[in-house]
Amino acid sequence: LVVARLQNSQKEVLRSEKLASIGQLAAGTAHEIRNPLMSIKLLVQAALRDEGDDPLSRDDLTLIEREISRVEATVRNLLEFAKPQALNRKHFHVRELLDYCLSLVAGRAAIQGIPIRYDYSHEDVMAEGDFDQLHQVILNLLLNALDAMTNEGEILIRINVLSDQGEFLELSVDDMGVGIQGEKLGDMFEPFMSTKESGTGLGLSISKRIIEDHGGKMFAYNKSKGCTVGFRLPLHSI
Ligand SMILES: Nc1ncnc2c1ncn2[C@@H]1O[C@H](COP(=O)(O)OP(=O)(O)OP(=O)(O)O)[C@@H](O)[C@H]1O
Ligand SMILES: [Mg+2]
Repeated sequence: LVVARLQNSQKEVLRSEKLASIGQLAAGTAHEIRNPLMSIKLLVQAALRDEGDDPLSRDDLTLIEREISRVEATVRNLLEFAKPQALNRKHFHVRELLDYCLSLVAGRAAIQGIPIRYDYSHEDVMAEGDFDQLHQVILNLLLNALDAMTNEGEILIRINVLSDQGEFLELSVDDMGVGIQGEKLGDMFEPFMSTKESGTGLGLSISKRIIEDHGGKMFAYNKSKGCTVGFRLPLHSI
């Protein structure tokens, strides 16, 4: 009887934790969607009051488009967060995954003038996992690193293969950016934790979920300049 009661109260705790995180999620989404909607509304209202032939300037339209894209990104990330895709596991070369991610951020890195170096010492490593979902994780790490680098420096992607009760792949992204603000270090993987004007704050929480679905773990720490964010995951499914 005592065991049953304990189990019940444990279930209660889990349930209330779940409800609390749903509430947090709802509040976060409402906020993320409301701000851009408010900007759009103000611009359209001003245009409606304008009696001229061309009430919306190109600048206004550009602003409206940007705000709509923001709402769209929030909704897209939220859907992904709420309804995770099942893993579609395949064998692939880690090198192929990295090259793909690098080709996606190359343009942005070039505009910022930030070289991305990459340690090729494990270029032949094969891994097993969901290529599409893992590429999202690496992409988010690289974009976060680029966002953090307002001045010069470089980004370094490090790959290691560790043997410790099975083989693990450790991939980390080092940047020379602003670093993670002390009080945020514990919260950065929480949904909607963002310090960016236009960030949804879902990137790392989705990444964490993807890595955990693969049986892995994410990590983050500050360095003397910038920070390191990465993950460790079993090379083969268990
Ligand atoms: N490399 C980094 N350097 C400094 N801070 C970082 C870094 N990576 C993440 N952070 C901090 O963690 C927060 C959460 O990151 P996350 O990727 O989840 O969301 P985001 O980047 O703000 O939004 P989105 O991913 O939707 O663009 C960031 O807003 C930032 O404050
Ligand atoms: Mg991000």
